[in-house]
Amino acid sequence: MNVDRKTFLRGLGAGALGLLATGGRSAMEADGYQSAATPTWTGDDPEGFWRQVRAQFPMTPERIYFNTGGLGPAPRRVLDMLTLASRQLQERVETGHDFFAQARVLVAAYLGARPAEICFTRNTTEGTCIVAGGLELQAADEVIFESHAHPGGSFPWLNRQRADGIVVKTFEPDPTSAAGNVERIAALITPRTRVVQVSHVTSPTGILLPVPAIAELAHRHGLWFHVDGAQSAGMIPVDLRALGCDSFATSGHKWIGGPHETGILWIREERIAEVTPRHVGAYSSDDMNLKNPGPFTYTPGAHRFEYGTRNAASVLALAEATRFQTEIGRDRIAARGRALAQRVRAGFERIDSVEILTPADPALSGSMITFRTPRLSYEQIFGRLLGDHHLRTRPVSEVDLNAIRISTHLFNSPEECDRLVGALDEVLRKA
Ligand SMILES: Cc1ncc(COP(=O)(O)O)c(C=O)c1O
Repeated sequence: MNVDRKTFLRGLGAGALGLLATGGRSAMEADGYQSAATPTWTGDDPEGFWRQVRAQFPMTPERIYFNTGGLGPAPRRVLDMLTLASRQLQERVETGHDFFAQARVLVAAYLGARPAEICFTRNTTEGTCIVAGGLELQAADEVIFESHAHPGGSFPWLNRQRADGIVVKTFEPDPTSAAGNVERIAALITPRTRVVQVSHVTSPTGILLPVPAIAELAHRHGLWFHVDGAQSAGMIPVDLRALGCDSFATSGHKWIGGPHETGILWIREERIAEVTPRHVGAYSSDDMNLKNPGPFTYTPGAHRFEYGTRNAASVLALAEATRFQTEIGRDRIAARGRALAQRVRAGFERIDSVEILTPADPALSGSMITFRTPRLSYEQIFGRLLGDHHLRTRPVSEVDLNAIRISTHLFNSPEECDRLVGALDEVLRKA
């Protein structure tokens, strides 16, 4: 589905509240909202194009940012949308809840999903909590996920292990082969297995896991397959219906470039009813004139998991972030991030003692590179890169990896990557 900018602005102006429409002209436009025009790719001057993209991000030039996997910056037009929508909602003292429907259409189109399958959450963790908490699982039922899972992916299941006696089994991700990962999961499946979950791209070392092949395996065994997409959506194009999973949770505030505390949960429409909402309230049911004690029915779509008053401005701004990426070109963004990560890799490979933990195979990796060296601890490297060189990386303390993770995204440049390589070389020479 293609929703163009005019339709979006019209949609905003035509909301049931009449919000953001002043004198027949969008107040957003009147406020200079459209001033941050997205650069157009012509192919003539690729580096010039990426410099214009960088100029869209109001990040301080005082440090170089390599931690999109932790938290991504939002471009100006997303922040403009956030502040303007926020202000106008405040001026009219309205929640703007009706705008969720418009945002749902845009975000669904961005993810290859249906609007009814999209639930706006606060982060990836909340999306995974909704699935982990809502599936009907009995004591001794088994759930499989990777040993490298982020706490946002593992704790929701460990909590059910604690509360309900389900059994958690983990596999170590195979950095050498996609098929190896499928085999490791297959080896753990028993008649008691109910759920498989993987990170689309693993957090500590950036391994891209073969989601379509795992989906096929999970469904052959009648299992629910949930994907933690915190590190994939926005880094690489994601087409959810094609991926084949049953549910997918991601954050708006990482690779997508949305505002802080935004997230998306997708559940395949045919399976939404299998996830019982554990938190409900206004908007979880269409029946607002409900007479107590019921009956109580859920809204047909995944927005049954949204409840109560929400921040419509941040949801609108998240939708704007998906438009920004679509206009830049999602394949282009993925290729740029990967090319920069490869540049960092090539530089690190020239430094003695540096071990790269992320697979080189493009089928097994994206725009993150994790490395370590026996010469310094991750805390020392992180501290020196930040303190002496103003380079913000991400320390990896998980699973005793003692490593540093580098994320490269559309706003990073080859010069920044070269500075990082030079800085690491200097840090190690001085050690
Ligand atoms: C794989 C993975 N899952 C979940 C999370 C948690 O994300 P959030 O804080 O947005 O819930 C992260 C954050 O880094 C992550 O890497």
